[in-house]
Amino acid sequence: MDKMLIRGGRPLRGTTTVSGSKNAALPILMASLLTSEPVVLHNVPRLRDVRTAISLLEGLGAKARWLDEHSLELHAAQVTGYEASYDLVKTMRASFVVLGPILARTGRARVSTPGGCAIGARPVNLHIGGLRALGARIQLRNGYVEARAEHLTGARLWLDNPSVGATENIMMAAALGQGHTTIENAAREPEVQDLGRLLVAMGARITGTGTHVIAIEGVARLHGAEHRVIPDRIEAGSLMVAAAITGGDVVVENAPVEQLDAVITKLRETGVNVTAQNGGLRVVADGALQPIELRTLPYPGFPTDLQAQMMALLTQAAGTSVITETIFENRFMHAQELLRMGADIVMKGATAVVRGPARLSGAPVMATDLRASMGLILAGLAADQETAVSRVYHLDRGYEALDQKLQALGAAIERVAE
Ligand code: EPU
Repeated sequence: MDKMLIRGGRPLRGTTTVSGSKNAALPILMASLLTSEPVVLHNVPRLRDVRTAISLLEGLGAKARWLDEHSLELHAAQVTGYEASYDLVKTMRASFVVLGPILARTGRARVSTPGGCAIGARPVNLHIGGLRALGARIQLRNGYVEARAEHLTGARLWLDNPSVGATENIMMAAALGQGHTTIENAAREPEVQDLGRLLVAMGARITGTGTHVIAIEGVARLHGAEHRVIPDRIEAGSLMVAAAITGGDVVVENAPVEQLDAVITKLRETGVNVTAQNGGLRVVADGALQPIELRTLPYPGFPTDLQAQMMALLTQAAGTSVITETIFENRFMHAQELLRMGADIVMKGATAVVRGPARLSGAPVMATDLRASMGLILAGLAADQETAVSRVYHLDRGYEALDQKLQALGAAIERVAE
């Protein structure tokens, strides 16, 4: 297993580019099952999770072919399988979103339930409730969701909480159903909107993505389409924090500026200068960082997927910051590792109080999830001496060529075999 060695203390400078969005790409890949015609996707990030999704689709009978580095053709002429195994779903929870597409296309699906996860319980009750409302007969047996439906029929749904995955699963199933579906309290995340754009390009009749109410008029068949995946707002935010935490000056090209309002606002509150430049964002940090209060929320609120990175940054702010995590109940695992590097953080329930500026010193650390790992890399960039972040496979799930991108900005980061 590889680890990342980082020698901190170098201000990052230069220009970097954001890759395609992981969390947009994954459900979009699954949507290719909804048609027997080819779907061509551009700006697909080369990530471990994308490889996992492709294996899942191939296991169901789809053909996948890379047309170039970031363009992928998926063709599910026939869907020969109907199962997503425990082994797959446990390595990548997003696999669960295949349930709606398989069921809509074949009338039958068997998908492992994901179980708990390093960041929280993450149940799938809203996915199941939604598909049941569309008329699917669903049983939970041997750790699997077994679903059947000769045809899915439209329904009016209200989600207890605006779950991204549940909104996507239900949208895909209803798109190929009969009649009218409305999802109220739907997720508004840009990734849901991107999936909506692909589905509409495939002939689906969907309106309201990006709002709390999504309306879907089912159609009998969907056709092939070509689609460009949106840039990754979480990667963009992570690179912006990298500039900020090192006192750097970095242009993040291809950053989806309009999706980053909350992130830009919070970074500016810390005293970092963020300006639009060349279709992206320039981040300049040349003064002392100020402490802030931060609360994670569904979009357009501050994303939970950038909370660990901001915690690393706030260890360097002069004063007391307060972070409240409202999306996942156990997403402060990185704090324990930051403490080992010299941070001053007190946690109580969903709140973390971060006092700074702390002098961080390099240490061997590891994280239990993708974003926590990124938080530790960022802390390493600001720490004295060497930080070794192990379990790099977490980073490989969601950050494309991270070490190369940071190296090009002047970071001393190196990937070594453990
Ligand atoms: N929830 C339920 N019941 C459900 C579904 C969700 O109670 O049936 C709860 C969850 O437990 C959580 C909240 O609803 O407390 C929000 O979860 P959501 O379903 O929105 O999250 P998700 O779809 O499982 C996606 C991203 C996550 C990101 C969250 C929140 C993908 C593949 N994953 O997960 O990304 O944190 O939305 O924005 O899109 C990551 O990339 O590192 C990552 C974890």
